[in-house]
Amino acid sequence: MIQPVVIYDSKYGSTKRYAQWIAEALSCPVFAREKFNPKDFPHYQAVIYGGGLYAGNIRGIRLLSKNARLLQGKPVILFTCGLSDPENEGTSSAIRQSLSRSLPPALLSQTRLFPLRGSIDYARLTPLHRAMMAAFHKMVKNNVKKSPASLTEEDRGILETYGKSVDFVSRESLKPLLSYCAAL
Ligand SMILES: Cc1cc2nc3c(=O)[nH]c(=O)nc-3n(C[C@H](O)[C@H](O)[C@H](O)COP(=O)(O)O)c2cc1C
Repeated sequence: MIQPVVIYDSKYGSTKRYAQWIAEALSCPVFAREKFNPKDFPHYQAVIYGGGLYAGNIRGIRLLSKNARLLQGKPVILFTCGLSDPENEGTSSAIRQSLSRSLPPALLSQTRLFPLRGSIDYARLTPLHRAMMAAFHKMVKNNVKKSPASLTEEDRGILETYGKSVDFVSRESLKPLLSYCAAL
């Protein structure tokens, strides 16, 4: 197998847990995004990047788009960590849309996406994040009242977990990503 590096951007720790499990399984180095020097990309044959999902965006994804030239020709394995259920087609297509806005087409074509499920503990949220979730929750509830059919998977995730502490992080869910990496 080729020598990859794992890089992650995690605010509350779920993406970090996945990143550490991946690095352990593949016996490769793991870095928090802010600790990784992009000049080191050429030392690795593949890049595994993980970012938490925040308001539909992948945290820290600019590390990849800004360094597209250094990543040319390398397999990029991208995992996201969010509350919406990745088993649902709506979840992965929303993430794909976000990705196509964030990455240049050539880099996108080298990138394989693995959406994973994270966690949330409202008691630990920053005031800004708590306010964002409160506003989003209010908006979703109003939309559902007006048009119940408009409820997306993302909306459902917010409604079901609002105000709670839930943890969907599972080592088992890494199997497809690890098999993909093993076959590179
Ligand atoms: C302000 C805020 C916005 C979020 N937006 C999304 C989202 O758009 N889609 C999603 O699936 N999860 C969303 N989440 C849930 C996070 O993705 C989830 O908590 C994830 O585990 C965070 O990863 P981290 O613990 O590595 O930071 C959001 C959470 C917060 C606090």
